[in-house]
Amino acid sequence: MPEAASARDRGLSPVIRLAPAKLNLTLAVLGRRDDGYHDLHSVAVPLALADRLSLARGHGRLDSLRVTGRDAGPAEANLVLRAIAAARARLRGPVDPWPVAALLDKVIPVAAGLGGGSSDAAAALDAVYDLWDVGTTLDPAAWSEHRARLARELGSDVPLFLPGGPVVLTGRGERIEPLPALRGSPPGVLLVTPAIAASTPAVFATLDADPAARPSGSGSTRAASEHLATEWRAGMNAAALVVRAGVLASANDLAAAADAVVPGLRSLRRSLVRALGRPVGLSGSGPTLWVLYASGTEAASAADRVRVGLGDGSIVAPGAGSPSVISTTIAAHSTRDDEEGTTS
Ligand code: C5P
Repeated sequence: MPEAASARDRGLSPVIRLAPAKLNLTLAVLGRRDDGYHDLHSVAVPLALADRLSLARGHGRLDSLRVTGRDAGPAEANLVLRAIAAARARLRGPVDPWPVAALLDKVIPVAAGLGGGSSDAAAALDAVYDLWDVGTTLDPAAWSEHRARLARELGSDVPLFLPGGPVVLTGRGERIEPLPALRGSPPGVLLVTPAIAASTPAVFATLDADPAARPSGSGSTRAASEHLATEWRAGMNAAALVVRAGVLASANDLAAAADAVVPGLRSLRRSLVRALGRPVGLSGSGPTLWVLYASGTEAASAADRVRVGLGDGSIVAPGAGSPSVISTTIAAHSTRDDEEGTTS
């Protein structure tokens, strides 16, 4: 047995995964279902912005999690531990699923519409089997179905992170179709996240209850989302995507509901449009606002302008504190290929 593998067998080497943020380029709400969830159609991409999750053999009897960087909040931290517990509960056969010591370096803003907690859970699912050294002996199709089922049970947004690239998501968000990688140099993305959480259930509930929160132009978001998916299946190039920024920025059926749940979000969006002269979109149920650029460098200079505007009061954000202003890019290639070495 090679030395690296035996080190892993003993759980001596940590298993490390990057857990990228996601951006919904489109988000159409097709209707409310009998189970209370909503059927969606969305094209989503992973970003270079990522949390870093490291799993190693724990010394105690229970799984543990230490978080550095941003405060993950109890719900997101729980999702990592729940993913590990769910993976252990499903293990069959002669495997000793040791207690796990998890270390999460949190970079992605929390409860922001960027899927950070869900991505951490997907990364935990992916990493923990590697740590326990199981899965490699199973039939790959059965193995990927096993992981997909666990991901669905953990949350609507968890499965979208398993392929590691652009996806179309349908159903309540759990039905995933991987799309081809974006061609060309990755577009820059400016993210502005007010320091105020937008609860996803509250945003969906507002959409159901408040006629003013219903999207105008019935079906236009769905048409834009399906059109983007169709184009993308044939191959999408980065420059062509950036040209579509205006259509994409208005293709989120949760935007009016998020504005109702987060007072001040609408005026922040308007002031960003004024300051940057670019379309501004909402990711997921918010409150993160996004702006697409041709490059990461352009996004970084836009971030500087936003920081200046926040400083001189020409841009005002809701929430108890300054918003996060982050420049990043759409992930250049599969984030599953980005995984840092485990034991090899
Ligand atoms: O699946 P998850 O627990 O992440 O969803 C959180 C909440 O968001 C759900 O309880 C529901 O209120 C809302 N939701 C929805 N339709 C979806 C996804 C989420 O109504 N497709």
